[in-house]
Amino acid sequence: MSVRRLIADDFDAMRALRLEALRLHPEAFAADLDAEEAASREEWLQRLASATTFGGFVGDTLSGMAVYSQPARRKIAHTASLGAMYVRESARGSGLGDAIMEAVLAKAAEEAEQIQLTVNAENARAIAFYKRHGFFEIGCLPHALCVNGRYYDELSMLRTFAR
Ligand SMILES: CC(C)(COP(=O)(O)OP(=O)(O)OC[C@H]1O[C@@H](n2cnc3c(N)ncnc32)[C@H](O)[C@@H]1OP(=O)(O)O)[C@@H](O)C(=O)NCCC(=O)NCCS
Repeated sequence: MSVRRLIADDFDAMRALRLEALRLHPEAFAADLDAEEAASREEWLQRLASATTFGGFVGDTLSGMAVYSQPARRKIAHTASLGAMYVRESARGSGLGDAIMEAVLAKAAEEAEQIQLTVNAENARAIAFYKRHGFFEIGCLPHALCVNGRYYDELSMLRTFAR
């Protein structure tokens, strides 16, 4: 397995993986599947350019991803963000997620003082995964997500680096 930053040439595989994530796990992500399906190639490429999307590969197959971003505004630039974390079911528990997370954390440690994420409070697997990578809970937003009429709370989690 390998991890690298995704580029414009990865567009088709990245779009397919992201849409798979939203289709199979609507309660895990704030993004709406129909809006993502409707997004133009230019919008996807703009996102690839404005944040760092790490892709995890099993052989040549893109099987996992995460989006790392750091604000441009100086007053908040020390807090990076992680989102869109997804590992295809066949690659879960294989270490691919760990490899993607290690790439994210290495970049964050270089550029920022801390990194934040949000996660559905009922997503025990993801929470365990994030805790193993040094994230801790800093808050909870009740009813943060509404998926098909059902509400979910969302945890905010933070990982800090040496200050
Ligand atoms: C979250 C995700 C990226 C983690 O990757 P992964 O390969 O599954 O993670 P791992 O197997 O390395 O670690 C998961 C941990 O949860 C544990 N776990 C597995 N199933 C679990 C369950 N049903 N309940 C609680 N913990 C569970 C594992 O034992 C492991 O624990 P450990 O860290 O103490 O060893 C992946 O599961 C995924 O893509 N899920 C669907 C999308 C999603 O939820 N994304 C997160 C959005 S915030």
